Amino acid sequence: MQAESICVVGVGYVGLIQAVGLASFGLAVKCVDLDAGKIAKLRNGIPPIFEDGLEDALQSVIAAKTISFTTDVAEARDCDLFYVAVGTPTSERTGNARLDYLEAAVSAIADVAPVGAVIAVKSTVPIGTCAALQARLDRDHADKRLAIVSNPEFLREGTALKDFFNPERIVIGSASESARQRVRESYAAFDQRGIPMILSDTSTSETIKYAANAFLATKVTFINEISDLVETVGGDIDDVARGIGLDSRIGPQFLRAGPGYGGSCFPKDTLALATIGRRHGVQQQIVETVIRINDSRRFHILKRIELAMGDKLSGKRVAVLGLAFKANTDDVRDSPAVDIVHALLEEGAEVRAFDPVAKFTVDHRAYQQCESMADACEGASAVLIATEWAQFRSFDFSAVEPLVARRYMFDMRRIVDIDADWASRWDIERIGSSLKRASA
Ligand code: UDX
Repeated sequence: MQAESICVVGVGYVGLIQAVGLASFGLAVKCVDLDAGKIAKLRNGIPPIFEDGLEDALQSVIAAKTISFTTDVAEARDCDLFYVAVGTPTSERTGNARLDYLEAAVSAIADVAPVGAVIAVKSTVPIGTCAALQARLDRDHADKRLAIVSNPEFLREGTALKDFFNPERIVIGSASESARQRVRESYAAFDQRGIPMILSDTSTSETIKYAANAFLATKVTFINEISDLVETVGGDIDDVARGIGLDSRIGPQFLRAGPGYGGSCFPKDTLALATIGRRHGVQQQIVETVIRINDSRRFHILKRIELAMGDKLSGKRVAVLGLAFKANTDDVRDSPAVDIVHALLEEGAEVRAFDPVAKFTVDHRAYQQCESMADACEGASAVLIATEWAQFRSFDFSAVEPLVARRYMFDMRRIVDIDADWASRWDIERIGSSLKRASA
C-alpha cells in the first residue's frame, strides 16, 4: 500500500491544476472524475481546458508516472489524503452555492477511504459547510475517524499553474491538528521558500476565500467608479490608479478600470457572501453594493456607446473584439463582453465578434463569430474592445480602415495605443478618460 498517495476528486479547473501541481512535486496522485470522456482525454495527455503550460505539465507527469486517472473512486482506496474539487454552482432559486456534488463526493470517498484518511475541500463552499461535513462523517462513519480540512484555492485563470507553484499563502483549516499537518505535508515543497501557511479552523479558512475574492471585486469596482468620475471631471484613470497604487497600503494590483468583473469566481462568490450574510442576519452591505454597481456597469457602457453612435444601434454593424471575461482564457462565464453582445442584439444591432480562443454561440441571425479581426470589422460602425488580449494591443488598425463603415472605437480595456499613427484617424473613446481623439 502506498500510504502517502493522494487522490483528487473532480478534475475540473481547480482539481486538475492541483493534481498536476502535486504530481510535479513527485507525489503519487490519482485523479477521479465521473466524466468518462474527460478521463479518457486526460489519460492521453489532453487537458479539457485551455490554460497556459498545462498540456506540457500534464504530459510530463504522465511520462513520470506520478499521475493516473480513473472514473472509479474505489481505485483510490489506498490513498490517505483526498482533495475534493467538485463544482458548487449557484442555485438560481436561492442564490446559495449548491452542495449536492460536494456531498456526494465526500460520501463516495468516505465509503472507500481507509481509517484516519483526510478529506480536504478545495471547492469554494459557504461558511460552515466543512463543519457540517465533519459532523456528518462523525455520525455516519464514526469508526473510520475521517477528518475534513478546508484548503481554499486562489488560482487565477490564465496563470493558474504559475499561481500554483508560486502561492502567496496556503490556508489550511480543520478541527484536527493531525489532518492540518497531513495537508501541510503535501505542500512540503513550499516549506523552504517560506510561503506563509495559515492554520486555522474551517470557518476561518472558508471565510478567507470569500473575503479575498469579495475584497478584490470591491477594489475593481472602486476603481471603476472613480473611472466614471474621471470621465466626467477630466483626467486619466491609469494615472489615478498608479498614483494611489504606489501607496503600499493600497497596492497597485486590481486597479485596472474596465467593463466590470466577470468570470467563474467573483460574481458567484460575491453573491454567495451576500447570501451568507443575510442568512446569518449580518448583511454584507459593501459587497451587496459592489454586486449592484458591477451588474449595472454593462448597461451603462452600452448607453455610452449608443450615445456615441447617435442613439440608434438598430441596423448598425458592431465589431466586438474579445469575448472571454479576461485575456488568456477561453472562459466566457459571466463575461461582460457576452452581456454586451446580448444587449447590442436586443437593441437591433448586427454583431460580428472575434476572440482568439473563446467561443460563444448565440442563436441569432444578427450575430456572427468571425475568424479574424479584419473579418469582424467588415462594415462596422463601431469597433468595441471588450477583452485585453495582447494581439489587440499591438494591432495596427490602419489595416481595417478600408473595411469599416466608420472609424469609431470604444476601448473598454484601455489597451490600444492612442499615440499610434493610425489612432489619429479614428474617433477613440476609452473607459476612464475624458479624452476623445477625434479627427478625419
Ligand atoms: C479570481 C481570483 O483572482 C482568484 O484568486 C480566485 O481563485 C478565482 O477568482 P479569476 O476569476 O481567474 O481569479 O480572474 P481575475 O484575474 O482575478 O479577474 C477577475 C475579474 O476582474 C475579471 O473579469 C477581470 O477582467 C477583472 N479585473 C481584474 C479588472 O477589471 N481589473 C483589474 O484590475 C483586475
